[in-house]
Amino acid sequence: MRKILTIIGARPQFIKASVVSRAFSETNNINEIILHTGQHFDANMSEIFFDQLRIPRPNYLLDIHGGTHGQMTGRMLSAIEEVLLTERPDCVVVYGDTNSTLAGALAAAKLHIPVAHIEAGLRSFNMQMPEEINRILTDRVSNILFCPTVSATENLKKEGYPFIAANGLTQHIELVGDVMQDAAILFANKAVRPDDFAVETDFILTTLHRAENTDSPARLKNIIDALNRAHHEIAPVVLPLHPRTRKLIEQQGIELKVHTIDPVGYLEMLWLLNHSSLVLTDSGGVQKEAFFFGKACVTMRDQTEWVELIEVGANTLVGAESQRILHAVADNLNRVVIDEQKLYGGGKAAQRIANIIQNF
Ligand code: UD1
Ligand code: UDP
Repeated sequence: MRKILTIIGARPQFIKASVVSRAFSETNNINEIILHTGQHFDANMSEIFFDQLRIPRPNYLLDIHGGTHGQMTGRMLSAIEEVLLTERPDCVVVYGDTNSTLAGALAAAKLHIPVAHIEAGLRSFNMQMPEEINRILTDRVSNILFCPTVSATENLKKEGYPFIAANGLTQHIELVGDVMQDAAILFANKAVRPDDFAVETDFILTTLHRAENTDSPARLKNIIDALNRAHHEIAPVVLPLHPRTRKLIEQQGIELKVHTIDPVGYLEMLWLLNHSSLVLTDSGGVQKEAFFFGKACVTMRDQTEWVELIEVGANTLVGAESQRILHAVADNLNRVVIDEQKLYGGGKAAQRIANIIQNF
């Protein structure tokens, strides 16, 4: 029996872990222990995903959130280390590029415990993003680099990977596909309409939370201005509002005149994706989910890690300039996109990951 310790803490990680956790439980020789750092803690940012996606309850819930990046990451590092010393797992699994990811990977590497990084190799080449720092450092200390795309494997090779990991073993680069596609396929037929959702058709599904947009008053104002105008002039804008963005909009007294709702569960999100006419976002995961549901995506960022979506013309990068956002929204409304090349592995990533980990 192999003891695997999974470290999660933020919304997208619960969704990713749901499919991998299932794949682990289908093997006969993996015993998974789940640690939730507490980074996301509102019921609709955390608990709802455990309920809807039937993720086993965390064995450890650390309740660490808020503060500066250093405070959050430092507190996690120290608390995770304690758990690792008690559990002594054969391998630690981390997802993506949040502070929980980096704290988990670093705590394990310093104890010479093998680290498996799911979503390795992604790069925006913008070192000002907290996510870019987290993913580069996590890749460097990991043993198994599970890449979702060909371009992620190429990024690693260009940077000189594989290196020797902290436990003295050579790193493995594994192209497995994207676990978010597994989740979208697995749960698509369980999608549910959000309660009291009044908008009927032709809406623009929008999400907005990235620090590069929300923490810059000028970018945030430009984006909200574009959303207000798109809602008035093009089609209803439906915005499940991330708590970070809600706080900053309130603090700055910006007027938001779109159809705002609280963050929704994953099954409601799948319904919204499926019924939207366009996706407008700065999220990493939502860019791909638009594609999985055949919708064009307009991305309010200056770079994306999911470069293949730009190459096939499914996604348009517009930054945070109002006029560019509005033009792209008008041009892409109701445009259908098709995944001709199975860019994200076709829904078998979790199974591949479980097979590799059980034989590692
Ligand atoms: C984090 C990740 C980001 C990821 C996002 C997914 C980092 C550095 N950033 O950003 O890469 O895209 O999660 O959603 O790890 N808050 C609440 N309730 C919650 C969760 C957050 O009120 O349930 C508040 C926090 O108190 C904080 C703000 O939202 O004030 C930001 O939360 P934080 O976890 O620091 O970063 P995210 O913006 O969520
Ligand atoms: N999501 C959700 N409810 C929402 C908004 C997003 O379930 O109200 C899901 C979305 O479908 C995707 C994931 O959360 O699977 C993306 O997370 P987020 O945008 O917070 O983070 P990112 O992917 O940018 O790191």
